[in-house]
Amino acid sequence: MKKHQIALVIIILFAILGNVSTKSSLQSLKQKNQRAQAVNFLASRILGDRLAQNITFNLIEQDLIVESRNETGYNEYFILSSPQENELTIQSNTKIGLSKGLFYYMKNYMNSSISWNGDNIQQLEYLPTLKEQIRIQTPYQFRYMFNYCTYSYSLMSFWDWQRWEREIDYMALQGINMPLAIIGTSKIWQNTLKSINYTDSEILDFLPGPGFEAWWLMGNLEGYGGPVTQSYIDGQYDLQKKILKRMRNLGMQPILQGFYGMVPNSLKAKFPLSKIYGDQSWLGFRRPAFLDANDELFAKIANIFYSESEKLYGRAKFYGGDPFHEGAIVPGLNLTSQAQSIYKAMQYTDNPKDEKVKWILQSWQENPSQQLLQGLKNDECIILDLMAEARSKWQTNDFSGHNFLWTSLPNFGLRIGQYGMIEQYVSQPPLAYSIKNSTMKGIGSIPEGILTNVLDYEILFDKAWIQTNQDTNLTPRQQVLQYLGDFIRYRYGEENNKNLFSAWSLLTNSIYNSTNPWDGPSESIMLARPASNVDKVSSWGTSYIYWNTTNVLEAWKFFTNYVKERKQRNRSQHLQKLEEINKKLGRSDDDMEAFVEISDSEERNLFKDTFLYDLVDLARQNLASYSYLLYNKVMMAFNQTDTIKFALYSQQFLELIKDQDQLLSSRKEFMLGYYLESVSKLGSTDQEKENFIEQIKRQITVWSDFPSDLHDYANKEWNGILKDFYLPRWELYFKSLETFIIEENKKQELAQLQQQQSEEGNVEVQEETKLEEESDLIKYTKEDLLSGKNINWYDVEIKFSKNNITYPSTPQISELEINQALFQKYYSVILAEHININQIRPTVQKQYGIRLQPKQHQTYTQVKFSKDKQNNGSAETQQI
Ligand SMILES: *[C@@H]1O[C@H](CO)[C@@H](O)[C@H](O)[C@H]1NC(C)=O
Ligand SMILES: *[C@@H]1O[C@H](CO)[C@@H](O)[C@H](O)[C@H]1NC(C)=O
Ligand SMILES: *[C@@H]1O[C@H](CO)[C@@H](O)[C@H](O)[C@H]1NC(C)=O
Ligand SMILES: *[C@@H]1O[C@H](CO)[C@@H](O)[C@H](O)[C@H]1NC(C)=O
Ligand SMILES: *[C@@H]1O[C@H](CO)[C@@H](O)[C@H](O)[C@H]1NC(C)=O
Ligand SMILES: *[C@@H]1O[C@H](CO)[C@@H](O)[C@H](O)[C@H]1NC(C)=O
Ligand SMILES: *[C@@H]1O[C@H](CO)[C@@H](O)[C@H](O)[C@H]1NC(C)=O
Ligand SMILES: *[C@@H]1O[C@H](CO)[C@@H](O)[C@H](O)[C@H]1NC(C)=O
Ligand SMILES: *[C@@H]1O[C@H](CO)[C@@H](O)[C@H](O)[C@H]1NC(C)=O
Ligand SMILES: *[C@@H]1O[C@H](CO)[C@@H](O)[C@H](O)[C@H]1NC(C)=O
Repeated sequence: MKKHQIALVIIILFAILGNVSTKSSLQSLKQKNQRAQAVNFLASRILGDRLAQNITFNLIEQDLIVESRNETGYNEYFILSSPQENELTIQSNTKIGLSKGLFYYMKNYMNSSISWNGDNIQQLEYLPTLKEQIRIQTPYQFRYMFNYCTYSYSLMSFWDWQRWEREIDYMALQGINMPLAIIGTSKIWQNTLKSINYTDSEILDFLPGPGFEAWWLMGNLEGYGGPVTQSYIDGQYDLQKKILKRMRNLGMQPILQGFYGMVPNSLKAKFPLSKIYGDQSWLGFRRPAFLDANDELFAKIANIFYSESEKLYGRAKFYGGDPFHEGAIVPGLNLTSQAQSIYKAMQYTDNPKDEKVKWILQSWQENPSQQLLQGLKNDECIILDLMAEARSKWQTNDFSGHNFLWTSLPNFGLRIGQYGMIEQYVSQPPLAYSIKNSTMKGIGSIPEGILTNVLDYEILFDKAWIQTNQDTNLTPRQQVLQYLGDFIRYRYGEENNKNLFSAWSLLTNSIYNSTNPWDGPSESIMLARPASNVDKVSSWGTSYIYWNTTNVLEAWKFFTNYVKERKQRNRSQHLQKLEEINKKLGRSDDDMEAFVEISDSEERNLFKDTFLYDLVDLARQNLASYSYLLYNKVMMAFNQTDTIKFALYSQQFLELIKDQDQLLSSRKEFMLGYYLESVSKLGSTDQEKENFIEQIKRQITVWSDFPSDLHDYANKEWNGILKDFYLPRWELYFKSLETFIIEENKKQELAQLQQQQSEEGNVEVQEETKLEEESDLIKYTKEDLLSGKNINWYDVEIKFSKNNITYPSTPQISELEINQALFQKYYSVILAEHININQIRPTVQKQYGIRLQPKQHQTYTQVKFSKDKQNNGSAETQQI
C-alpha cells in the first residue's frame, strides 16, 4: 500500500467514523425533536430550508402548572439562544410556544413578519446571532381565535388547503392554541340524519350554503344558500381532516361543533311525541328547531352526533354551541337542567378513563344566563367574554366562578375600516387577570371578519407574552408607542423612521383608539342605502366619527412623504455608485442625474407589500371619511333648494365613489373579483360556482333573499361593488332629489310670476302650470323623496347578485401611482374642510342629524323584524 493510499484509507475511516458520530447525534437530536417536527416544517415554509435548518426546536417536558406559585399558576415559556454563530435554538414547554418563539425571533431579530395583507421577509444570508439568552412567558393558558361569523364573512368557508395551511401557520406563529374549527360540520350532520332515516333531499333542505354556514351553526337559520352538492360536503370533510391534523400537530386544541339541541324543523313531523320547539324567528328567517335536552330523543341523537363526529374528526377537548343564541329562548324552559343534560350528552362515552370535555360558551347579550351556568360545575365550561374591551362581563362577576377568556371583537361583518381600541387591548387583559380570585384563563379574539387592521391582533397576541424583566409601570399609551417601534420594524423593515412613526402615532391616538365601543369600524357613507340623515350603513352599525379626522389625514401625508423619502434614498444610492464609477473612470459628474433612470416597477419594489397595502388602506380611509362631509354638503344644498350647489356636490360625491373604486383596484385585498374567484373555485359544477358567487354577492348586499334589516350588514368598501352597487344607488337617489328641487324652483319662480301677474289682474298662466306638475315624482312628498321611499331598494339591490359581471381579480393600477394622484387631488381639499369638521363637528352633526354620541346599542332582542317569511302563525313582532 502506498503512502498516499494509506492516508486515503485513514481519511475514509475518519470520514465514516465522523459520519457515524454526527449521524447518531443528529438522530438523537431528531428523536428529541420528533414531536417538534411540525414546527420545523413550519419554519421551512416561512423562512425557507436554508435558514430553517439552522434552527433547533427543543420541546421540554415540564409541567405547565406551577404549584409553588404566588403570582401565576401557569407557566408556559420559550427560550431563545444562539449555541453558535448564526444558529438558533428555541426551547419551550409547548409546541405552540416553539412557534411563538420563532415569530418573536423573526419580528425582533430578522425584522420580518407575515400577515393577512402582505409579508415582509428580509432576504438574509445568515440567521442573526443572539448575544444572550432570552426567556419569555405567558400567564394565559388559552389563546383563542375566530367567531362563527368569521367563517362566512371572511369567506373561510370557501378556502382551499393552501389558504388554510397559511392561516394555521400564522396562528401558530401568533401563539394561538385554541381555534374554532367548524369546517366540515355538514358531514357530521349528514351522517347523523341518515342514521335516523332522513332522505338525502331532506338532509339537503337543512344544510346551508357556505356563505351562510355561520348562522346555521349558531342556530339562526337553516337551508339558506343551499342546497349544496355531495362533492362539496365530501370536499369539506377531506379539508377538515387536514386542518385538524395540522392544528393538532402544531399543538393546538381546536374547538369542534357540539350538539346542543339544534335540529331540523322537519324533525317534529318525524318524532311527533318528542319535545321539539320550533316556530322561532331570527330577523325574518325561520330558526332551526330546538330539541329539549331532557327528552330521551336528545341523548339518542347526541350520541349519534358525537360518535359520527369522532369517527370523522377524532375526539376534541372542547365543543362549542349555544342553544339560546341571540334571544332563542323557549319560554318556561328550565335552563339549569337543560345545561346539565347538554353537558352530559357532550361527554358521550361513559368510560370513566376518558377525559371530560369542556363546553365553550359565548358571553353575548344575555347569554349565558345565570340559570344556565348553575347547571355547570366550574371546570365544565369556558366562557368567552365577547368584546371584553368594551362590554366585558367579568367586571360585573357575571360568570359566577366559571373560567373565562378575555376576547376582543374588533370587527363586524368584515366591514372595511380602520379601527381598534388599541389601549384596551394592552391594558385590559392584565387587569382582568390580576383581580383577586380571577378565573380568567386566557385571551383571544373573536372578530366577525379578519383580514383587516392587523395591528389590533398583533398587539393583543404579542402583549400576552412577557419578558421577565419588562417594565410594567408604563401607561397604556407608552406601551403602544413602544410597540409601534417594533411594529414598524417587523412590518416595514424600517427602524427609527420619522414618517412612519409619526403616521402610526397619529393613527393610534385617533382612529385606532376608538371611543365608540359598539359597532366596530365606522361605516363609510358612500356605502349607505341613500336617504337624508344617514348616520349608519347597516342597521346596527354607525358612521359616527369618533376620531380627529385631521390626524388620519396627516398620517396619510406622512405615508406619502415616506414614499418620496424612500425613492430619494434609492436615488442617492444610485448617484453615489455612479460617482464612484465616474471617479474610477475619471469622468466628470456633470449631468449625472440623467443617468439615474429608475423604472416604475423598480421603484415599486423598494416598498414592502405590507407598506403598499397600508398606504392604500389609509388613502381609502381618508376618502371614506371625506364622503361624510360631502354628503352633508349635498343635503344642505338640497335643503336650500340650491340647484347649482346640489349638482356640484352630488357630482363630487359620485366622483369620490368612482375614485375610491379605482384606488381599491390597486390591491387584490380590496377587490370583489379576487374574492369571487376564490369563492367560485370551490364549486364543483358551473351551477354550484354560480350559486356560490351569487350567495356571496347577496351576503354583502341584501343579505337575506327578502327585504330585511340585514341589508348592508356586511357592507364592503371594495373595488367592483363600489362602482356597480353603491354608485348606482346614489345616482338614483340624487336624480330624484334633483328633479324635485328643479321643480321646486320652477314652482317658486312661477309663484312669483303669478303674484306679479295677479297684481296685474292676469290669471291665464295658472292653467298651464298644472299640466307641468303631472311628473312621476309628484305623487311623493318631499319627505318621501328624502327618505328614498319612492324607490323600491330591495328590487334595485337584488339585481346586483345576479348581474353576471366578471370582476377583475388582479390589481389594475399601481398603488404608488393611484395614491399619488388621489393625494394631489384630495389632500388639501380635505384639509381645508377638516378644519371645519373638527371645529364645527358638533353643529354639523346636530344640524344634519349625525350622532354626536354613539347610540345605546340595540340588542337583537329589542329589534322588531318586519317580515317573517316562513314563520306562519307566530306573531310578527316576536322577540328574537
Ligand atoms: C412569592 O412567594 C415567596 C415565598 O413564599 C415570597 O418570598 C415572595 O415575596 C412572593 N412574591 C410575591 C410577588 O408575592
Ligand atoms: C434589524 O433592525 C435592527 C435595528 O435597526 C438592526 O440593528 C438589525 O441589524 C436588523 N437586523 C436585520 C437582520 O436586518
Ligand atoms: C448555519 O450555521 C453554520 C454554523 O453552524 C454556519 O456556518 C452557517 O453559515 C449557518 N447558515 C445560516 C444560513 O445561517
Ligand atoms: C330507521 O329505519 C330502520 C329500518 O326501517 C329502523 O329499524 C329504525 O328504527 C329507524 N330509525 C329511526 C331513528 O327511526
Ligand atoms: C331546574 O332544574 C334544576 C336542576 O335539575 C333544579 O334543581 C331546579 O329546581 C329547577 N328549577 C325549577 C324552577 O324548576
Ligand atoms: C376570594 O376567594 C376567597 C376564598 O375563596 C374568598 O374568601 C374571598 O372573599 C374572595 N375574594 C373576592 C374578592 O372575591
Ligand atoms: C385612548 O382612549 C382612551 C379611552 O378609551 C383614553 O383614555 C386615552 O387617553 C386615549 N389615548 C390617546 C392617546 O388619545
Ligand atoms: C385634531 O388634530 C390636529 C393635529 O393632527 C390638531 O391640530 C387639532 O387641534 C385637533 N383638533 C381637535 C378638535 O382636537
Ligand atoms: C332643512 O330645513 C328645514 C327648515 O327649513 C329643517 O327643519 C330641516 O331639519 C332641514 N333638514 C336638513 C337635512 O338640513
Ligand atoms: C346570468 O346568467 C344566467 C345563466 O347563464 C342567466 O340565466 C341570467 O339571465 C343572466 N343574468 C343576467 C342579468 O344577465
